Amino acid sequence: GKYRVVSTKPMPGTRWINLLIEQDCRVEICTRKKTILSVEDIIALIGDKCDGVIGQLTEDWGEALFSALSRAGGKAFSNMAVGYNNVDVNAANKYGVAVGNTPGVLTETTAELAASLSLSAARRIVEADEFMRAGLYDGWLPNLFVGNLLKGQTVGVIGAGRIGSAYARMMVEGFKMNLIYYDLYQATRLEKFVTAYAEFLKANGEQPVTWKRAASMDEVLREADVISLHPILDKTTYHLVNKERLAIMKKEAILVNCSRGPVIDEVALVEHLKQNPMFRVGLDVFEDEPYMKPGLADLKNAVVVPHIASASKWTREGMATLAALNVLGKIKGYPVWSDTNRIEPFLNENVPPPA
Ligand code: GLV
Ligand code: GLV
Repeated sequence: GKYRVVSTKPMPGTRWINLLIEQDCRVEICTRKKTILSVEDIIALIGDKCDGVIGQLTEDWGEALFSALSRAGGKAFSNMAVGYNNVDVNAANKYGVAVGNTPGVLTETTAELAASLSLSAARRIVEADEFMRAGLYDGWLPNLFVGNLLKGQTVGVIGAGRIGSAYARMMVEGFKMNLIYYDLYQATRLEKFVTAYAEFLKANGEQPVTWKRAASMDEVLREADVISLHPILDKTTYHLVNKERLAIMKKEAILVNCSRGPVIDEVALVEHLKQNPMFRVGLDVFEDEPYMKPGLADLKNAVVVPHIASASKWTREGMATLAALNVLGKIKGYPVWSDTNRIEPFLNENVPPPA
């Protein structure tokens, strides 16, 4: 191969590898057992000559790595993730490295996990499963694992982008929930969908669903019964859900987070869960991954899974393919193309370098 492309982790499927090989790339995949690679580990992988790297959200892509990649002649980096809070885009600009991410292919998969966590929390699935396995079930009882009915309740979505909108639609259409959302931008297509669905229900003699775009995030937190967080993580969303905001939520609300851990003050959350046994959470992400804050693991009103929201076979193969196409596209000078037929510019294209 004329070009050397490094993947810091083995990724699902073979399509991404074949795409690169067919286009004159030599693909090197790091198979070390160590789960999280350090900056030094990755500098060693980059070596003296490297045209592009596919990396992971657990890695710190800042000044050190972009300068190393640039010194090795590298022009492209793709995160195998839609989130890129682990990537310093300004540093990439400074060293002339294009940065890609993998949106689109994980929208529905991630929304489906948020829906799964919502239902698991509402119907206490994990607690009930543990009870069964512990041999505690000794007969049907009217009071056994009574949870919440979602139909007619209000789902709150904070961050109604691709994933938040897909989740909202699932909860509204699947469970006939009313919608309240908060976003800096208007979710026009989502609003149209809920309006049309409400018409459909009305025409069929059913109670129509309602929707509202909230003027503030606090309005969502106060009014919704199930709240799912879908913002990006940056300075403005760090500890978005803190002690004060937890306090304004309903005592029996359900909070779901499939975005990034630091969006919630996890210490405050643990305290809130302890004080409010009817408040439940479904968490896919944590403030100090892979760790949980002390006490969280002991709480029955928390469902916790290890950052698996995008983990469907189709999506993970799609993310790997998109990441490969991002890197290949830059090396070859192609427009960036994805399986969803969406032309997505590199994140830092047309962004002027810092003065
Ligand atoms: C996963 O967390 C992603 O951002 O793709
Ligand atoms: C419950 O199992 C019922 O039959 O109502």
